[in-house]
Amino acid sequence: MSYPFQVRTREEYDAAYKKSVEDPEGFWADVADTFVWKKRWDKTLEWNFTGPDVKWFAGGKLNITENCLDRHLATRGNEPAIIWEPNDPEEHHHIFTYKALHHKVMQFANVLKNNGVKKGDRVCIYMGMVPELAIAVLACARIGAIHSVIFGGFSAQSIADRLQDAQAEYVVTCDGAYRGNKDIPLKSVIDDALVQCRFVKRVVVLTRTRIPVSMLKGRDVWWEDEIKKVETMGNPDCPAEEMDAEDPLFILYTSGSTGKPKGVVHTCGGYMVYTTYSFVNVFQYKPDDIHFCTADIGWITGHSYIVYGPLCAGATSLIFEGVPTWPDAGRFWSIVDKYKVNILYTAPTAIRSLMSFGTGPVNAHSLESLRVLGTVGEPINEEAWHWYDEHIGKGRCPIVDTWWQTETGGTMISNLAGVTPSKPSYATLPLPGIQPVLVDEQGNELQGNGVTGNLCIKFPWPSIIRTTWGDHERCRTNYFATYPGMYFTGDGCLRDEEGFYRITGRVDDVLNVSGHRIGTAEVENAINMHAGVIESAVVGYPHDIKGQGIYAYVIYDGTHHDPALTRQDIAQTVGRIIGPIARPDKVQFVPGLPKTRSGKIMRRILRKIAEGETENLGDTSTLLDPGVVEEIKKGKV
Ligand code: PRX
Repeated sequence: MSYPFQVRTREEYDAAYKKSVEDPEGFWADVADTFVWKKRWDKTLEWNFTGPDVKWFAGGKLNITENCLDRHLATRGNEPAIIWEPNDPEEHHHIFTYKALHHKVMQFANVLKNNGVKKGDRVCIYMGMVPELAIAVLACARIGAIHSVIFGGFSAQSIADRLQDAQAEYVVTCDGAYRGNKDIPLKSVIDDALVQCRFVKRVVVLTRTRIPVSMLKGRDVWWEDEIKKVETMGNPDCPAEEMDAEDPLFILYTSGSTGKPKGVVHTCGGYMVYTTYSFVNVFQYKPDDIHFCTADIGWITGHSYIVYGPLCAGATSLIFEGVPTWPDAGRFWSIVDKYKVNILYTAPTAIRSLMSFGTGPVNAHSLESLRVLGTVGEPINEEAWHWYDEHIGKGRCPIVDTWWQTETGGTMISNLAGVTPSKPSYATLPLPGIQPVLVDEQGNELQGNGVTGNLCIKFPWPSIIRTTWGDHERCRTNYFATYPGMYFTGDGCLRDEEGFYRITGRVDDVLNVSGHRIGTAEVENAINMHAGVIESAVVGYPHDIKGQGIYAYVIYDGTHHDPALTRQDIAQTVGRIIGPIARPDKVQFVPGLPKTRSGKIMRRILRKIAEGETENLGDTSTLLDPGVVEEIKKGKV
């Protein structure tokens, strides 16, 4: 497959960027024309950011799975689409050619149909990293059902919240999932969630770990039995549903600074065009390259750069079920050698964690197939960048530091591997079509280089968030109201003297723990559910491996005989309510919280104390009770 829109030199990048700003519609129409449409669109772009109301390729009809699968059958039918490496290196791996994947997707799409799923219905997918997860995602897209994948680490309560918000009547899950030496009972978590979700009509359960599960008569069915049923029906085909370019493709929940997670909605046409465009350009994908993205499909990175982007590009995408440190810290490297991986895309937290094992596990492998390295999810510190460059890339692989978000659908700011320059800890330059601006607190655009401000985007790109499911106003207030006329990212950013962008981290109350977004309000709500907790405040602090750790200040009423045990209980409560990723690393009992006279918690002070700062706490004159700060400093954990 050739990619007419791939830029291969710095000059081509400059020219593409210029065209994308001067004539965005012409630019994106040229890219979109390289895809398969059932009907070409009428208008390339209609937009305003006040609604917001953004439509790309309006009137166009397509099905993304025809672009991911059908169109490759004639040319790449026997080439690998997905390579699946199981958790246990002793277990047999699987390779799905484009033909095989196409067949499996149609089969499961028919299963969904047989079970009553129709276009526009929401299907929640809660599975481990098995190939059937990608198959279930694509099967939904095939019939126009809206998938909502929930990361396998979320708790029953988190699942119930999401199911209710999306009113998802269908669930696809596994009996259990393997992750390293753990065996996670997914179906039983779903059972707990569904106690609160009586509207769920059908649960399809894939066999993976063979852990005993209870199946509810009339509601729960086995994946394998359902496949057998459609096989005996004879016709394996499942025609691709005709979708409007602006029909929702999926909902993916993500944390914000307030309240419950919001359902970010992406649509079929624009998302397809942008994920493929960015995949091919950022990684400089070449036909036959093996692409290994280590993210979970439960996050946006997995949606865009394991499933949709690579498959639309006819690439070979590697899915790994396990974790980087099991059975040992050389697992990534042995996978790279086993499949001759060319592109490795991972998170800084994984790099830092593997660094802590030294170079022994790395040096046992050749890694000579690697050509491009990538990072995503959080700022990468220089030390980790250099280790990645020197020990993994052996100094010969460009590293792409890709900045983007669930809401942006695809990479927004990144160097293009080997085409535009890299700079440690910098995401560097915007992709063609992306117009970043830095603004001050008042929303004034900061011109020129050598400035720091809040990062906004002033023009729509094809995979921009369209709405938050069921609550369009929330989308407006979250992203388009802070700085009218612009999309606000929630990130702080520096543009250096050379015009390179460096993301400095969130400027709102959102934490980034091991590359996962967690709202402080969500964690506080969960802590407050623990009996005896009166109030709490959560902030982030620098953590060697996770990037940010979670520090909780808790006003506790009960008689706690053993503070260590109570701390553990509180952490466990959060684990139960949200999921293990949100468990606080540190819990400090405090007599009060630093509040202004109007009752607002001054998190700035709490953040400084959590970071170990005791002297320069800034202006504390507006505090209701400055004495409380001294108490908190004394009790720091
Ligand atoms: O703060 C930024 C950080 O992760 C946030 C987005 O999180 P999420 O929606 O979960 O998506 C993560 C995967 C795309 C951003 O607001 N972030 C993401 N990539 C980078 C980053 N921070 C610095 N450098 C990056 N490359």
